[in-house]
Amino acid sequence: MRAALYDRHGPAREVLRVENVERPEPGRGEVRVRVEVSGINPTDWKSRSGATPRPIDGFQIPHHDGAGVIDAVGEGVDPGRIAQRVWLWMAAAGRRWGTAAEWTVVPERQADSASAELGASLGVPAMTAHRCLFADGPVDGKTVLVAGGAGAVGHFAIELAKRAGARVITTVSGPYKAELAAKAGPDLVVNYREPGAAEQIRSFAGSGGVDHVVELALGANLQLDLAVLRPGARIVTYAAEAADPVLPVRACMTANVVLRFVLLYGVPPEALGQAVGDITAALAAGALTELPVTRFPLDEIAAAHETVEGGAVVGKVLIVP
Ligand SMILES: NC(=O)c1ccc[n+]([C@@H]2O[C@H](COP(=O)([O-])OP(=O)(O)OC[C@H]3O[C@@H](n4cnc5c(N)ncnc54)[C@H](OP(=O)(O)O)[C@@H]3O)[C@@H](O)[C@H]2O)c1
Repeated sequence: MRAALYDRHGPAREVLRVENVERPEPGRGEVRVRVEVSGINPTDWKSRSGATPRPIDGFQIPHHDGAGVIDAVGEGVDPGRIAQRVWLWMAAAGRRWGTAAEWTVVPERQADSASAELGASLGVPAMTAHRCLFADGPVDGKTVLVAGGAGAVGHFAIELAKRAGARVITTVSGPYKAELAAKAGPDLVVNYREPGAAEQIRSFAGSGGVDHVVELALGANLQLDLAVLRPGARIVTYAAEAADPVLPVRACMTANVVLRFVLLYGVPPEALGQAVGDITAALAAGALTELPVTRFPLDEIAAAHETVEGGAVVGKVLIVP
């Protein structure tokens, strides 16, 4: 099969190549998927570049996310799953068979039913959003602030929080991003770069303030977060900034704020299972929507990685193998 792969860490153009490798067979408990679309996330280029390196087992086909159709199953898997259309998550975690290839094999629980290519945009962003929202219980009736609502994680955080019964406020940097974030259905979109952002959020949140923040820029946004939180509120952070923030301990103590950090690779299996079930149910209910997509053929994988790495486009970058 044709696959994009690397066998050492480094810049996209130096280490990524497309070649023929043997098509994998599904082992016990695994399914093989004919990949229709492969989705790129920041974690994929960070692993490839060596910024956050992961061990390479001979070679690595990149990308956790993807969508396609099951065409073979291993021992112990119901053959009725053949021909099922699925979305894939964490395909390349601890395995060489990422989705940037014509086929991949994954443990069967990492392929859940989905229609259309939205499936290729879900795995990392929607699973991360789910954990950031629900790690400490339901958000029903809570006021949730999602930082960066036009980003992939932010987009699904808005949609999953709304489906779960939260009031949702989101922040963006300008009008185009505001339009995009609004499509996910938040109750309020605020430009975090404009003066008065905190007042807008506070007045919408009401006397109690914000209960829960899904945060991707803790250092940049902490003053804003502290200005709008209710006492004892939670900030859940899922992204590292170029420089680690300095924590204003007294202000955090005064707010009795609870800080939580999330890295998808370390989320407990039960929570991953819960996330998959909820995301598939949300998909079936039509509650999750696509972001704008930019497609590249497999042969242009280096350019696709550079596009994600450089933050050159808004939305998802997809590979069509
Ligand atoms: N911990 C995990 O397991 C995990 C999982 C997934 C992703 N991540 C990390 O999370 C980050 C985002 O991933 P993604 O796939 O969602 O990326 P993305 O689709 O590129 O979105 C990033 C968003 O961040 C927004 N942003 C940047 N600075 C901001 C600020 N100060 N306040 C509010 N919004 C801000 C940008 O919007 P504006 O231009 O409007 O600001 C952009 O929409 C990446 O660093 C990624 O590595 C971590």
